Amino acid sequence: MKKLVIGNDHVAVDMKNELKAYLEEKGYEVINVGTDSSESFNYPISGYKAAKMVASGEVDGGILICGTGVGISLAANKVKGIRACVCSEPFSAKLSKQHNNSNMIAFGARVIGIEMAKMIVDEWLNAEFMGGRHQNRVDMIMEIEETQGLGAVDGE
Ligand code: RB5
Repeated sequence: MKKLVIGNDHVAVDMKNELKAYLEEKGYEVINVGTDSSESFNYPISGYKAAKMVASGEVDGGILICGTGVGISLAANKVKGIRACVCSEPFSAKLSKQHNNSNMIAFGARVIGIEMAKMIVDEWLNAEFMGGRHQNRVDMIMEIEETQGLGAVDGE
């Protein structure tokens, strides 16, 4: 993962800027689709823009930040192909990639500090999807998204 997108609302401008600089220093290209102003900003806009870039393959992954990480991840998860996970600590972030093949990570600028955010992003970027039995489960999640059904339950 070398090319990332980052999206945020007005609550998370400082955290976005610090994380972007941190990742660029590590050699990542980081595209900013969030607001750079402290004026009230509707997080679905940046959540959607970032998610579209991940879903299209234009970038390798995405980072979403609002007050809690919840609203912006809900918006992103409405885009087909997105698995955005809200994680407030590194363990869940790592497992979200290893088991759930998350392609976006989200957290809240009102919930965690910048050092925790860096740790979360590092763990997530360094983790690899494990496949195997987890692939089957991720496929089931994507089947629900694709068909609004689940053969294993509905018997289709
Ligand atoms: C903005 O006040 C706040 O609702 C937003 O940042 C986020 O926490 C929503 O989930």
